[in-house]
Amino acid sequence: MAFYMVGVPGFRRVRQGRGVATRANRAEPSIDSAMNPGKDEAMLGIDLKGKRAFIAGVADDGGFGFAIAKCLYEAGAKVCVGTWPPAYGVFTKLLERGKFDESLTLRDGSKMEFEKIYALDADYDKQEDIPEELRESRRYKQHIDVSISGVAAQMKADFGDQALDMVVHSLANGPEVKKPLLETSRKGYLAAVGVSAYSYASIVSSFGPLVKPGGSFVALSYMAAARVIPFYGGGMSSAKAALESDTRVLAYEAGRKWGHRVNSISAGPYNSRAAGAIGPMQLMIDYASKNSPLTGELTAEEVGTSTAFLCSPLSSGITGTVVYVDKGYHTMGMTVELANEITEVVGPAHGRGK
Ligand SMILES: NC(=O)c1ccc[n+]([C@@H]2O[C@H](COP(=O)([O-])OP(=O)(O)OC[C@H]3O[C@@H](n4cnc5c(N)ncnc54)[C@H](O)[C@@H]3O)[C@@H](O)[C@H]2O)c1
Repeated sequence: MAFYMVGVPGFRRVRQGRGVATRANRAEPSIDSAMNPGKDEAMLGIDLKGKRAFIAGVADDGGFGFAIAKCLYEAGAKVCVGTWPPAYGVFTKLLERGKFDESLTLRDGSKMEFEKIYALDADYDKQEDIPEELRESRRYKQHIDVSISGVAAQMKADFGDQALDMVVHSLANGPEVKKPLLETSRKGYLAAVGVSAYSYASIVSSFGPLVKPGGSFVALSYMAAARVIPFYGGGMSSAKAALESDTRVLAYEAGRKWGHRVNSISAGPYNSRAAGAIGPMQLMIDYASKNSPLTGELTAEEVGTSTAFLCSPLSSGITGTVVYVDKGYHTMGMTVELANEITEVVGPAHGRGK
């Protein structure tokens, strides 16, 4: 049996600015001891051996998709990924040249290997939807069919009728993300919702038949779906709200149709390439750490282990949910700074922490 254990080397490499660097102050996951039982202790592990995953939205080693891939792989799954065509060439070249070797390294010293990397543009559902000019452009014409249904068809040809057990949607794009909603164009708004939310419905629809009954779909959402997060503009908050609503409807429809489960993870702020486009992420990360029930920065590995759980039979009764993996930040209704100020006046309250 393959068991996923946390504390995997390579997870400490995070993006800083344009490069990839090792950050010494990254908090270790607190679940380490719980997931590393001693020899004689009872062990309930996540075993995904013999299963295959497809993760849409992996183009470097600095985001949630890569960390999720690593967790699913460590649990025993074969992992295929979908990479945005404009990023495909660089990603595959860097992989070939060994630039991600440290990040790919597993606890036992071996390296994760992707079973196959497909070029995927989640903006398009069928090949004929892709504008001819784009289809004929340098980064697209080398691939067979980068649309969602095109990649599903290639996976069927490569691995057979029910080739998959789990599918993860870890992608988003909002061309006007830096604009407040009041200044966002209709085109920018619809583009954000199309690629970041509708693509989940399209992926469940196209990949559903390829997934064995009882399979699992997981998408990555953000708290801006339900709360105001200034600077998360361009319709991205609307896209996440749609994604979460669709999670519920898709859970019903895919559950009844195929017996599949459909969930989302609402992750806390993390310094990925995509997040870097929004603004100075470190300020948001520090704010979340200061004001969450659990202090310490969220790690991508924590999102990876939660995804592994949602993809495993251990979560067979869970569907249609949005699981917050954010150190509990979403539960707070007051900043810790204010709680401390009030404490100065009225004396200690339970749970306060500086
Ligand atoms: N980083 C955060 O703070 C944070 C917080 C909550 C949720 N999320 C969500 O997590 C998911 C992964 O993002 P991340 O932050 O790990 O960044 P990331 O850069 O690793 O992932 C985003 C991916 O989307 C891909 N992409 C963009 N447009 C695409 C398209 N048209 N077709 C296919 N792929 C496309 C990019 O190439 C990239 O690989 C996203 O849904 C994001 O909204 C991120």
